[in-house]
Amino acid sequence: MSRRRVAVLISGRGSNMAALIEAAKQPDYPAEIVLVLSNRPDAGGLATAQANGIATAVVDHKIYGKDRAAFESAMQAELAKHRIELVCLAGFMRLLTPNFVGAWSERMLNIHPALLPSFKGLDTHKRAIETGVKLHGATVHFVVPEMDSGPIIAQGAVAVHDDDTEHTLGARVIKVEHRLYPLALRLVAEGRVRVEGNRCLTHESTPLDAIFIAPSER
Ligand code: GAR
Repeated sequence: MSRRRVAVLISGRGSNMAALIEAAKQPDYPAEIVLVLSNRPDAGGLATAQANGIATAVVDHKIYGKDRAAFESAMQAELAKHRIELVCLAGFMRLLTPNFVGAWSERMLNIHPALLPSFKGLDTHKRAIETGVKLHGATVHFVVPEMDSGPIIAQGAVAVHDDDTEHTLGARVIKVEHRLYPLALRLVAEGRVRVEGNRCLTHESTPLDAIFIAPSER
């Protein structure tokens, strides 16, 4: 089966993008990263993509001012040029209009650094600590017009430690993200994810019985 053609959209350092690029180097991975697109010319991830021989494009939102339709049609043109089939948002920090989101319905994924639907938006690790949750983590979901919503494809959890700062907790969560996003993209690219209402059902996945309790029972 041919591999799905994927664009990764970034705004910054692109460590999740790098994790997807690494995963896609495996010959049996069902997707290839053919384009990395940034809305910021200074995004660190662009150099990483180029070093891996991947085409990059910049559609600088500042050039378009408030004209979001023009910004998005410039992005659509890049995606069309590279015959993109799936889009992965990876630290892409622009809100997208319902028009753009609708064009990529069930074909656009996002990673969010929290166990959705908790802690939508920014500063998720700080808010998790302040709220006192004992488990925190990351979510990959299909993008819908409402921010940080949409059917959840996969989640990963970590414990929150008493002495965590947003940085130490974020460091634990980003490791989850780097495993989670390649898994979620693989499932989608293999056609194993079916959306039913607000749920994603995963074809041929082994049901897990693991229980994760924090703090430890010792
Ligand atoms: C990641 O932690 C990602 O989950 C988060 O931005 C970071 C990007 O890091 N995304 C969001 O907060 C989106 N709401 P990266 O550029 O190293 O992948």
